[in-house]
Amino acid sequence: MIPTVIPCQRHLFDIPEDIAYFNCAYMSPLMHKVVAAGEEAVKRKARPWQITPPDFFSTPEQARALFARLINARADDIAIIPSCSYGTATAALNLPVSKGQDLVVLQDQFPSNVYHWRELAAEREAQVVTIPRGGNDGWTPRILEAINADTAVVALPHCHWTDGSLIDLEAVGRRCREVGAGLVLDLTQSIGALPFDAAAVQPDFAVAAGYKWMMGPYSLGFLYVAPQHHDGRPLEHNWIARRDSKDFAGLVDYKTEFQPGARRFDMGEGANFTSMTMAVTALKQLLEWGVANTQATLAAMTAKIAERAAPLGLSASDASQRAGHFLGLGFPGDVPNGLPERLGQENVFVSVRGQSMRVTPHLFNNDADIDRLITVLGASL
Ligand SMILES: Cc1ncc(COP(=O)(O)O)c(C=O)c1O
Repeated sequence: MIPTVIPCQRHLFDIPEDIAYFNCAYMSPLMHKVVAAGEEAVKRKARPWQITPPDFFSTPEQARALFARLINARADDIAIIPSCSYGTATAALNLPVSKGQDLVVLQDQFPSNVYHWRELAAEREAQVVTIPRGGNDGWTPRILEAINADTAVVALPHCHWTDGSLIDLEAVGRRCREVGAGLVLDLTQSIGALPFDAAAVQPDFAVAAGYKWMMGPYSLGFLYVAPQHHDGRPLEHNWIARRDSKDFAGLVDYKTEFQPGARRFDMGEGANFTSMTMAVTALKQLLEWGVANTQATLAAMTAKIAERAAPLGLSASDASQRAGHFLGLGFPGDVPNGLPERLGQENVFVSVRGQSMRVTPHLFNNDADIDRLITVLGASL
């Protein structure tokens, strides 16, 4: 299906007209209805007699199913986690790594998908292989070249968190299967805004924190676990993840068996009534928009920003090599000192990551925001 451009959705958000917020990669704003769902859930906790045992299961199951739809997986493959690092820690606990093997990551990859691999490498006498930046042909050819019979794990994002540079995950997935390497993905900077197909890529584990492109609350994310790892080791042992946990009267009839599928990897208190209700509300909206439509809309927006930034001497990376919801703008020299702060004083919000200014819009941005960004940027250079 050909993606369609979505009209501006600012009315769904609490963003004053004079704020130009281009920083979804840092943290997305919450929609009015997500805030309302959270407020309603907080009020329910004030009246706990209204919270019944089935509530510990029903909303998490709904969230699992919605997230699964977003990535073309099954609800059974999804665990509820608090953070990206929790997900990568689970993956690190469950993938075999032996002495002398390689763990492949990218240069400047986000730390939550690096530290566990460094720890594991030190523990097993394996090594972390870091693919350097550079080259006009993008990351994928160099990643494929680095994967060989000595590779134990390839740990990657879908697009780099600093500038949105893309990786062809289907090609990487195929290569990993050829050599028997595990594939662990951190999709925090892409899920919700960039289509991802778990059935096509076939990762072992895929993690996403929910407070960026999933437009949900902080401290709630999801972990995809491939069926071959469903009998793996969870990071922690909580009562809900065990069989028959719906029977509150029988909880001390301790069980060795778990809930089915990836549910054994759920964090403790994953039923979090407030966050979970908010996440469900946001996920429904993402699915209603359609991820491919969101991506097409944001790609058109970042292309427009790149075009208008060019006369200011700012260069954008090749649109075919970056995700459409990201724009890294490069300066002729170093990023001017204190630039994000100066822009912030004028109600323009972006980030600086490495040597580029990261502009990450969403469906709430409009032409007036782009005008403000370009005007303020022009005056600050
Ligand atoms: C690529 C990426 N992964 C993960 C995170 C968040 O990690 P965690 O959930 O472990 O705090 C961020 C936050 O900026 C990120 O950019």
